[in-house]
Amino acid sequence: MTVLVTGGAGFIGANFIFYWLKAHPGDRVLCVDKLTYAGNLSTLSAVLEHPDFRFVKTDLCDREALDRLFAEEHPGTVVNFAAESHVDRSIEDPEVFLRTNVMGTAALLDVCRKYGTLRFHQVSTDEVYGDLPLDRPGLRFTEESPLRPSSPYSASKASADLLTLACFRTYGLPATVSRCSNNYGPWQFPEKLIPLMIANALQDKPLPVYGTGKNVRDWLYVEDHCRAIDLILRRGKPGEVYNVGGNCEMNNLAMIKRVCQELGKPESLITYVTDRKGHDLRYAIDAGKLQQELGWQPATRFDEGIRQTVRWYLEHRSWWEEIVSGKYLDYYEKMYGDR
Ligand code: NAD
Ligand code: DAU
Repeated sequence: MTVLVTGGAGFIGANFIFYWLKAHPGDRVLCVDKLTYAGNLSTLSAVLEHPDFRFVKTDLCDREALDRLFAEEHPGTVVNFAAESHVDRSIEDPEVFLRTNVMGTAALLDVCRKYGTLRFHQVSTDEVYGDLPLDRPGLRFTEESPLRPSSPYSASKASADLLTLACFRTYGLPATVSRCSNNYGPWQFPEKLIPLMIANALQDKPLPVYGTGKNVRDWLYVEDHCRAIDLILRRGKPGEVYNVGGNCEMNNLAMIKRVCQELGKPESLITYVTDRKGHDLRYAIDAGKLQQELGWQPATRFDEGIRQTVRWYLEHRSWWEEIVSGKYLDYYEKMYGDR
């Protein structure tokens, strides 16, 4: 079987490629990635020479390039990770989010229909449901929760979900959608909370907490997410949405303190900064459907996952140090300079 993975030079896509080549030896894996600021070919260096792997640098919105690739490779399975993924950037500049996340997904769905792809999976996010209050801990998002996205990022992801489901209903494309909570693990770009805090702490730089630090996220180790997508591809029902979550809620302040503890760095590095606009208060996923129908549950406990992640960033200093120099410095100054 040939599996096409879009956005495979990013955090979750790369972890998925490593996972798939190991879990399904003999399958051919194609990676399509535009290599934006978030995509890094060096992340894939361990598999670039693998006989069953091919990397193609392409923009998801380039319909002709997609058509040529499908005519050549006829991928049976397509998993769409490619996206602009950072909420803060979407607040600064929404347009590229609409282009990639909405128009790019539309282009990919069209080419899948044309070439009769057997299985399409859209990798989505719990953020499409908006947020939950902090004072009602019993509430969690189910697949039936209304779509109430708060940011341009989550609005663009919700649109892509709806396009995918419309494509199933109208054209019969065998498509599924998963909505996952916050991932953490190796190869995550250091603009996201956990790797940013690790990188800053290791450089004895301030650890910027937005607002009060009471906002809650539900954390899942990235490999568990990859395993959930694998199960959905093999046994999930076309036309269905599946929530994926870590059952591991934690507020941002607690998370940052935990990173300090793992690294032996002082909590005095923590600095309160202006809150994110429209900042979602709490995400919490009910993954009961995935558990009951497909037998999935997270395998990596948070204690173990965070330890492995911190160790990984310690052992791969050159990977993230290269990123946090150069252009990234301009981004950091723009986002955090006068916050
Ligand atoms: P990421 O930003 O690390 O990687 C995104 C990848 O997509 C990059 O390699 C980038 O080069 C590529 N890309 C961007 N625009 C492209 C385009 N026009 N054409 C081709 N490639 C393009 O993102 P991530 O954190 O790995 O997230 C992957 C997917 O999972 C996204 O769809 C995101 O919405 C979803 N998701 C992420 C999380 C999380 O916690 N990170 C949780 C749930 C869902
Ligand atoms: O829930 C899934 C989503 O998780 C994915 O769809 C997104 O692609 C992914 O980026 C992530 O979104 P968040 O906005 O939750 O992640 P982020 O790492 O940007 O922030 C996590 C929390 O930490 C959030 O409440 C904002 C806060 N934060 C973040 C940064 C970067 C800070 O307090 N300080 C920071 O410097």
